[in-house]
Amino acid sequence: MKKPDMKEARKRQNKDINYIKYDGIKEQFGKNKKYYVRTYGCQMNEHDSEKICGMLESVGFKPSDEIETSDIVILNTCAIRENAHDKVFGFLGVLKHIKDTTNPNILVGICGCMAQEEVVVNEILKKYKYVDFVCGTHNLDNLLSLIEQKIETNNRQIEVLSYEGDVVEDIPVIRESKYSAWVDIIYGCDKFCTYCIVPYTRGKQRSRKKEDIVNEVKDLKEKGYKEVTLLGQNVNAYGKDIYTDYNLANLLTDVAETGIERVRFVTSHPWDFTDEMVDVIASYDNVMPYIHLPLQSGSNKILKLMNRRYTKEEYLKLYNSIREKVKNSSITTDIIVGFPGETEEDFEETLDLVNECKYDGAFTFAFSPRENTPAALMKETVSEEVKMDRLHRLNEVVNKYSNEANKRLEGTIQKCLVTDISEKDKNKVCGYTENMKLVNIKGPKSLIGKIVDVRITDAKSFSLDGEYVK
Ligand code: 5AD
Ligand code: SF4
Repeated sequence: MKKPDMKEARKRQNKDINYIKYDGIKEQFGKNKKYYVRTYGCQMNEHDSEKICGMLESVGFKPSDEIETSDIVILNTCAIRENAHDKVFGFLGVLKHIKDTTNPNILVGICGCMAQEEVVVNEILKKYKYVDFVCGTHNLDNLLSLIEQKIETNNRQIEVLSYEGDVVEDIPVIRESKYSAWVDIIYGCDKFCTYCIVPYTRGKQRSRKKEDIVNEVKDLKEKGYKEVTLLGQNVNAYGKDIYTDYNLANLLTDVAETGIERVRFVTSHPWDFTDEMVDVIASYDNVMPYIHLPLQSGSNKILKLMNRRYTKEEYLKLYNSIREKVKNSSITTDIIVGFPGETEEDFEETLDLVNECKYDGAFTFAFSPRENTPAALMKETVSEEVKMDRLHRLNEVVNKYSNEANKRLEGTIQKCLVTDISEKDKNKVCGYTENMKLVNIKGPKSLIGKIVDVRITDAKSFSLDGEYVK
């Protein structure tokens, strides 16, 4: 058994990253067995789940939508806020019931960021005896061995490494979409924003080699993919750990030059965002004009306590330069309310910034203390009630601007990558504009997988309606 250690997870040494090739398992021990994977959290977790599915299917497991009749259920978890925890523990209750009644042989496993948390693993060891295996984020490539050992020995398997991390190439993937693909470019994070658990659960900043990324994109393009989204907790730090003369601007250029129709990237940290990167985004038509630029707070005092490394003035300078240089850009953000020490005046400064930036959209959160992070040791000064009140007031302002941004598109023609049948209306299809707005489109199913012109007919709060033009 290897348990997580949050103190070890914090350490950063100046040692080289190991680049390892995935070492698969030949034996088809999943033959005639079914699996179910549930994913919580960010896009990186969604892509990790595609790797989990890829590994499972490489030894014969088949996917299933039904938990009750599956042989193995894996929860790929998120640790970013307390409510992410609550959802996972709630679902574990459902699985216990299935194990106690209809399917006693079902194997239950936990992967992802919660697996990297000491408190979570200790709780699982004590109270959740029916969890059969726990696999951390750094040794995900060893998942199949853990499952095989569990099946062979019937002993529960816990393997979580708390170290800086390696880069493992060539893990098999089963991608959810045939048109739009996630591509990891950098793992981990070294920013240590004081509220954030990611640097502990995902380890040191580790860039993939540029040729591995570009080759993956070329291969996706050959397979018919129209869009790639380059992934990292902080994509703007790409390359800093392994190159002296190659950064995100260079990578975006090389990926754009492959000729793939759409290139996206998430998530950006304003501190690492250079003018050169803005210029590359502005100069390539296939680099999409959509930027997620987390603000977190509009108060310099709170930004400092959060260790965000920028002031609101610096943020605004970057924000305005993107708006100026990138045609028809859409910018979204993340904001936390109720950080320790946030006064009504600090919160109003956040509202002021939102009023100034007029974001296309924002993800807003109430501060939630995370195990072992510096902010969890700060005295909480904002009551739950005040946090909820601020969240509510912030959401009103945010929604006003996202509605306005949507309204401005009414009557325009937008290029959409049609991805699926619309969830709202089975007679329609749906897709995304270049600046990442969801459109429900009147048009035939044969449009799925294509980039087409769509006239926007109506703006709703969280989506647009449109009709196929050509
Ligand atoms: N409490 C509330 N929100 C958080 N986020 C990260 N950590 C916390 C926390 N402890 C938010 C940030 C980040 C987004 C992914 O989640 O806004 O950008
Ligand atoms: Fe967390 Fe900050 Fe790193 Fe984003 S940049 S993952 S918020 S520590």
